[in-house]
Amino acid sequence: MDEVPPIIESKSLTRTFRQTRAVDSLDLSIRRGEIFGLVGPDGAGKTTTLRLFAGLLDISEGSLYVDGYDLTSHAETIKPLIGYMAQQFSLYGELTVRENLAFFADIFDVMGEVRRERVQRLMAFARLTEFEDRRAAHLSGGMQKKLALACTLIHEPKILLLDEPTTGVDPVSRREFWDILKDLYMTGTTIVISTPYMDEADRCSRVGLMYQGRLVICDEPRQIRRMVEGEVVELRPEDWRQTTKLIRDLPGVLEVQTYGETLHVFLDSVEKRLPIVEATLKDAGVAYRGLRRAPPRMEEAFISLIRGMDSP
Ligand SMILES: Nc1ncnc2c1ncn2[C@@H]1O[C@H](COP(=O)(O)OP(=O)(O)OP(=O)(O)O)[C@@H](O)[C@H]1O
Ligand SMILES: [Mg+2]
Repeated sequence: MDEVPPIIESKSLTRTFRQTRAVDSLDLSIRRGEIFGLVGPDGAGKTTTLRLFAGLLDISEGSLYVDGYDLTSHAETIKPLIGYMAQQFSLYGELTVRENLAFFADIFDVMGEVRRERVQRLMAFARLTEFEDRRAAHLSGGMQKKLALACTLIHEPKILLLDEPTTGVDPVSRREFWDILKDLYMTGTTIVISTPYMDEADRCSRVGLMYQGRLVICDEPRQIRRMVEGEVVELRPEDWRQTTKLIRDLPGVLEVQTYGETLHVFLDSVEKRLPIVEATLKDAGVAYRGLRRAPPRMEEAFISLIRGMDSP
């Protein structure tokens, strides 16, 4: 169906560490110029996937093509195409913003006038020009992430692999970081990004959910949201354990998920079932607040999918 060949294509891609199949038979095509989000719980295989894509790990089984080249036989051709930002990206704390960029320019052999121009442009791009002489160690967390991204861009890669680049960063800085990603997206860069934040997954053109090394689902965010079966109501009961027990086996209740103190109850029909839920809680003397209908979210779809895989 796709006329343009994918920029990354894996077939049965597998990486094992002793007994663990960290990435297990992954078939995934990344389209040219898309922002692809990789999500999944701890240990799902996101980092391993990105490291395989970056050519930093050997493949155990399967194949991987990047920009049409077989990664196992053309690693040197592919390397310049890729910018990889590791989950624990380390900047040199003692070096300034400008010096860090110069350091990465050295590594990637970016020299002379090109280098001067690029360091200047990337500092502006990452909104860091006014901090160019500040040591990396003295930047805020958000600024450090932007500097790390700028360093990843020094050789102008056309594929960016970003492993949780915004984890632990405040919401305002996360938004700024995404503004920069949007600019890169507009220039045609392909971006593969892993993230624990569902609002970020929502901003991707497509999202892949990984679990135990496998790709559980891969689709556009709105399609994934649509997979949530039934309708959702949320409420904050005084005792969520007791409430869950009371309502999870009522007729028409498909699933109950807990988010902190809030319960999300999936019903086959809110109109038909909600009165029964309310009556049940009332009879049991359970107090609750904030009962309302909620639009299905991606997180709920993911939790449902993963639960479905765990139960036989
Ligand atoms: N170098 C390694 N040696 C042994 N096992 C490893 C190695 N790297 C990863 N693993 C295992 O492979 C599995 C996948 O790990 P990976 O780091 O890819 O997950 P992740 O989805 O990135 O998790 P997180 O969200 O915690 O970053 C885990 O079970 C992990 O323990
Ligand atoms: Mg990881």
